[in-house]
Amino acid sequence: MQGVARNFFTLAIVYALAGMALGLHMSISQDHSQMPVHAHTMVAGWLMSAVFAVFYHLFPVARDKMLAKLHFWLTAVSGIGLLVGLFFLLGGNAAIEPVVAISSMGFYAAMLLFAFIALPVIWKS
Ligand code: HEM
Ligand code: HEM
Repeated sequence: MQGVARNFFTLAIVYALAGMALGLHMSISQDHSQMPVHAHTMVAGWLMSAVFAVFYHLFPVARDKMLAKLHFWLTAVSGIGLLVGLFFLLGGNAAIEPVVAISSMGFYAAMLLFAFIALPVIWKS
């Protein structure tokens, strides 16, 4: 794996380790209040980043574009903002809500950008 594909797979593994550690903490403490953070870290973090990594690995023509780098950074920054923000929000820090809201929109924008990158590539090949 190279470039953006490798970045996404590295990010995916970081999410998996963090999300599973949180899942273990939830199970041991029997406090499931952080369940949405765990669930999104595992599926929107680990699984989606891994899917992006495999896509960019299979289609180097998409990986080598500048837009792919933008897709990685927008996904990473907004995803981490969303999950860390949600962790503190659920922990009782209401002031962080704007960070969660803006990050959510950033995460959606990153998915729109991915549609723009991926659809022409898969329909051409
Ligand atoms: C160390 C391994 C894991 C532990 C200890 C763990 C623990 C938990 C716990 C305690 C809950 C809360 C259940 C509830 O309150 O109803 C939960 C929910 C969830 N977990 Fe995990 N989990 C682990 C791995 C994973 C993995 C690998 C994934 C996905 C790739 C995952 C995805 C989810 C999802 C989507 C939910 C929310 C389910 C729902 O909506 O009811 N978890 N997990
Ligand atoms: C813009 C990004 C996203 C936002 C703002 C968002 C928001 C939400 C909200 C408000 C809930 C209900 C939580 C509750 O009732 O406690 C939820 C649940 C869920 N979402 Fe998302 N979501 C996003 C992205 C995703 C993505 C990309 C996935 C999967 C790849 C996903 C998977 C899930 C799952 C499995 C649940 C049920 C588990 C839970 O209740 O936490 N979400 N999401």
